[in-house]
Amino acid sequence: MKFLFPILFIIVSLLAQDNYEDWDKQYKLTPTVIDSDAHNAYIEIFTNKKATSAYINKAKEYPVGAIVYKPLYQDKAKKILVRVVIMEKMYKGYDSQNGDWFYAVSNPKGDDVYEKGRIDHCISCHKLVKDTDYMFSQSVMKKIDDENFELERIIPDLELYEK
Ligand code: HEC
Repeated sequence: MKFLFPILFIIVSLLAQDNYEDWDKQYKLTPTVIDSDAHNAYIEIFTNKKATSAYINKAKEYPVGAIVYKPLYQDKAKKILVRVVIMEKMYKGYDSQNGDWFYAVSNPKGDDVYEKGRIDHCISCHKLVKDTDYMFSQSVMKKIDDENFELERIIPDLELYEK
């Protein structure tokens, strides 16, 4: 019985993992594009429902099923979307050394995943922010605050971002 949940989770995730087509219909935390610290790119942050308040509150631990998407644009006007990087919180034991995160890199549409799993080069950098569960929420939320983003707008009703 104890193993049933992880097994079901693996099956469901295997079916779901390669398709992130709806990433741009999730909660959009960034009011405008922000400069990426890590890449020569402009980024936005989208979170699914489970990840949203955890990210805003710079949580120390995310619930299983939390997903955070970071589209990377070549230009500030968002004309060229190069790819989307994704992190998904997996079941306990998926990668216990590294916070049980699944990493993926997909095409702009989200239906073609180039790289996925416990990706070492992603982990090597994200472990710098182990205190906030491998999420760069501190620095990203600071940039959002500097833009005078009204958090009230997204916290009470968590409106879905409409395109
Ligand atoms: C050199 C360090 C570095 C590497 C390598 C790296 N990241 Fe990140 N990542 C960051 C930083 C810094 C941020 C915060 C936003 C920004 O400044 O771009 C971030 C943000 C993210 C986010 C949004 C959630 C968050 O932490 O704020 C996701 C999702 C993500 N990265 C996925 C990946 C994936 C997938 C890989 C591997 C293909 C990867 N990252 C490799 C540094 C890195």
